[in-house]
Amino acid sequence: MKAKFLIAAALVSGAVLFIACGGGADKDAKPLDVEELTKNQPETHGTEIKEGEINLSNPLNAEWVTGGKSIYELKCQSCHRLTEERLVGPGWKDVTRRRQPVWIMNMITNVDMMLDTDPEAQKLLEQCLVRMPNQNISKEDARKVLEYMRSNDGEK
Ligand code: HEC
Repeated sequence: MKAKFLIAAALVSGAVLFIACGGGADKDAKPLDVEELTKNQPETHGTEIKEGEINLSNPLNAEWVTGGKSIYELKCQSCHRLTEERLVGPGWKDVTRRRQPVWIMNMITNVDMMLDTDPEAQKLLEQCLVRMPNQNISKEDARKVLEYMRSNDGEK
């Protein structure tokens, strides 16, 4: 009987943590042991993208939008929706409004660096509980994905 109760309690607290990434704050949740959660992740290193390297202009580059869409469908869709809805990671709606382009680009090409050093990325990790995998996206491809995100956010 007691064991059953403990399992039920564990399931309930797990459910609360799961919901927390969607925006509902659970202030009583105990801090996560991120190191424990990520200890089996391979270590990878990318090249940091600097502020001045990214040029944004309108109208959008239609070819990049199409290319970005294919990359999204192949490598991102399993964890990210185009709406506000969270799947494994946050939904992409308005991501270009809440983040700087250079932040987004580094999140795509240098996710390990971001999760190790950037407080905003670390906040997301604490909410989502899953470490976004590095998928070896080139700078050029990351730029296409950014263009696709801009298009998804209504830019023309
Ligand atoms: C296995 C699941 C998974 C895949 C696949 C994935 N991501 Fe993520 N992503 C996450 C998680 C989880 C987070 C939140 C940070 C964390 O916990 O590591 C995140 C965060 C992000 C963010 C920050 C979002 C925000 O709201 O600030 C961006 C941008 C992003 N991912 C882009 C991508 C791109 C581009 C791809 C495809 C090339 C991709 N992700 C593939 C899981 C994934």
